[in-house]
This record gives sequence, C-alpha cells and structure tokens, in this order.
Amino acid sequence: MEINDRFLRACRREPVDVTPVWFMRQAGRYMAEYRAIREKNSLLEICYQPELAAEVTMQPVRALGVDAAILFADILLPVIPLGLGLEFAKGEGPVIGKPVRTAEDVAAMKPVDAETDLGYVMEAIRILRGELNGTPLIGFCGAPFTVASYIIEGGSSREFLKTKTMMYSAPDVWHALMDKLSNVLADYLIAQIRAGAQAVQVFDSWVGALSPQDYENFVLPYSQRVLQAAKAEKVPVIHFGTNTTTLLPLMKHAGGDVIGLDWRIPLDDGWARLGHDVAMQGNLDPALLFAPLPEIKKRVHDILRRADGRPGHIFNLGHGILQHTPVENVKAVVDMVHEYSPTRAEQSASAVETGSAVRS
Ligand code: CP3
Repeated sequence: MEINDRFLRACRREPVDVTPVWFMRQAGRYMAEYRAIREKNSLLEICYQPELAAEVTMQPVRALGVDAAILFADILLPVIPLGLGLEFAKGEGPVIGKPVRTAEDVAAMKPVDAETDLGYVMEAIRILRGELNGTPLIGFCGAPFTVASYIIEGGSSREFLKTKTMMYSAPDVWHALMDKLSNVLADYLIAQIRAGAQAVQVFDSWVGALSPQDYENFVLPYSQRVLQAAKAEKVPVIHFGTNTTTLLPLMKHAGGDVIGLDWRIPLDDGWARLGHDVAMQGNLDPALLFAPLPEIKKRVHDILRRADGRPGHIFNLGHGILQHTPVENVKAVVDMVHEYSPTRAEQSASAVETGSAVRS
C-alpha cells in the first residue's frame, strides 16, 4: 500500500512534499466514465448501490492522480429519511416533494438513524477504504443553512426568499428546523467517520446570501454543532462556503481545521483575514478550466505564490467542477500543482509579470 498523506498533513498544517490537490465534484458528468454509468442509472440509483458509488468515487482518483477521494453521494440524501421526498428532475436540479414551511411541517419531519437509514453511504465508505490503497477518503454533508434552503424553497433558488421569510417572520419555526437538521447532519457525519471517512467537508454553498449579522444569529450555532461533532471524532474538518468574504471570521469561529474559499477573494487576502492558524483550501475559478493551458498555468501559479509555501494549503477550485470541463485540463492542473516548487515559482513569476497577472 502506497500511503499518500499529503492531504491529511496539509489539513493539520504540517509540512508536505508538494501541495495536495483534489476537486469538489471531481466525479461527475464531465468524465466519460461517469456518463457511461449514469446512462443506465439515475443519480440516486448510483448513490443507493454502494459498489457503484464506490466505482464512481474511484474514477477521478485513477484518471487524475488527485491526493484525496471524495465519497460519491449528495448533500440532499438525508432529506429522504426525513420524509420530505427527493427527486432530481432533468434540467431542473433537485426537487423536494414536501417542502417545509410551517411549524407543523417541522414537527412532521421523521427522526433519522444515519447508520441504518443512510446505511448505503456507510457501505460505500467501507468498500472504498478497501479499494483506495492509501489515498485518503473525504466524507461530507451539507451545512444546516444550505440544506434548509433546499427543503424550504423546494429546490434550488437565487433569492432564498422563502428561506429568509421564515428566518425573519417565523424565527421560532426557523430555529426548530435548524435544531432538528443540525442534529441529523451531525449524526450523519459521525456515522461516516466511524465507517472510515478520514476527513470531512461541510458544504455551506449558499451561505454567502446572508449578512454577517444574520449568519451569526440564525446559522452559526447550528453549523458549529455539526462542525464540533465531527471534530470530536478526531478527523480534519473542512468548512466550505461561497461568497463568504464578509463571513470568514464568523465561519472560522463556527469551526473547521480548514476553511474553503471561492475565487472572489485572493487566497492570501482570505487567509490573512482568517489568520494563519487555520488551513486554507482553494481557490481557482472553475471556469478557468475552460481556458488555454498557459492561462490556466498562470492562474494556478498565482494561487500557489499567494499560499507562499505556508503549511496548510490544499489546492482546489473555488466551487465544484462544471459540467463540460475538459478532463485533460483538470489533469493538467493536478500536474501543475505537483510540479510547482518555490524555485520554479520564482522563475514563472518573473515570466508572468510581463502579462496581466497580479502579484501581491
Ligand atoms: O464532489 C464529488 O465528486 C462528490 C459528489 C457530490 C455530488 N453532490 C454529486 C452530484 C457532492 C460533494 C455534491 C454536493 C452537493 N450537492 C452540493 C454542495 C456542493 C456545491 O456544488 O455547492 C449541492 C448544493 C448539491 C445539491 C445538488 N445536487 C444540486 C444543486 C444538483 C443539480 C445540479 C447539477 O449539477 O445538475 C445535484 C446533482 C448532483 N449531485 C450531480 C452530481 C454529480 C449532477 C450530476 C448528475 O445528475 O449525474
């Protein structure tokens, strides 16, 4: 077995040979191998069959040489045992059958036993730990706010109006919902860790829709509950969100050994705002994977220069890989990150400075 621990070491801010790299949504439709399985199975059918979920998880590990695997699942799976109904409608994204809008709806949410009700996820984790051969496995869940937004809106949203209306007009209902959800999500993460996940990521993808004040009052205590439950299991915890520039100090307070950054803030700027006593994951714009290789390289090196060789940087995108991303560009980024060294960085920095790249 060839142990690759650079991802786990970076989570703990320990020195590494080269910067570790993986990608959010690294398994998915941009890969032909995934599409071949997806032709015959729906997204949920893949999740329900642990052997298939494990196979799909392995695809990017084999094809790209990334330093971590992320379990193939979805942040909305816990919605199913909660009794709310989940479908992925073609072209529409997720649809929740029975959205939660009232105190009665919250009371009707069923209790969830993660070990059994989501047992297929734990089974996929156990299979993967046998297959991964030393590459660490990341488990994950959605953060309470992001999951709540789907179950209140009934699906994806731009304005989060129903979500915010509940928050502002029926705070008791909001808090009752967040209380239940955060307990379910905490148990779900704990079950994943006990099944063998070696690190976990909490996805608060849409939390940037909130002001710092509303984050603090309506979200932070619940995210904290989930993050602390995972921390108590002694694995590294990654806390990710997008559009979070003004929320970063509060997200750090909520918890996480690693904070995930999107591309809207330069990595060094985000890291300075947080303080260097926390590790950093990110933050290439996923759209850059559609650019010509020299442009990609310039941007990858810019991020690595901003990380400045500090222990605790994990290279990733600022959000998930987009659907039609060229696989060869994703692979090229893995190689660029692994080939980068301070000496080469300085060389390429001087080459880049004649172009438009910014340097701090
Ligand atoms: O990262 C990975 O490779 C692991 C798998 C993974 C999926 N979803 C599989 C999936 C992960 C980590 C997720 C997380 C997830 N799911 C998030 C948080 C991350 C983010 O992107 O912000 C969110 C918000 C969801 C909810 C969700 N699932 C949406 C909005 C959609 C539809 C949008 C789309 O791309 O069609 C999904 C479907 C989904 N989950 C796909 C995949 C690979 C789409 C592909 C398919 O239908 O086969």
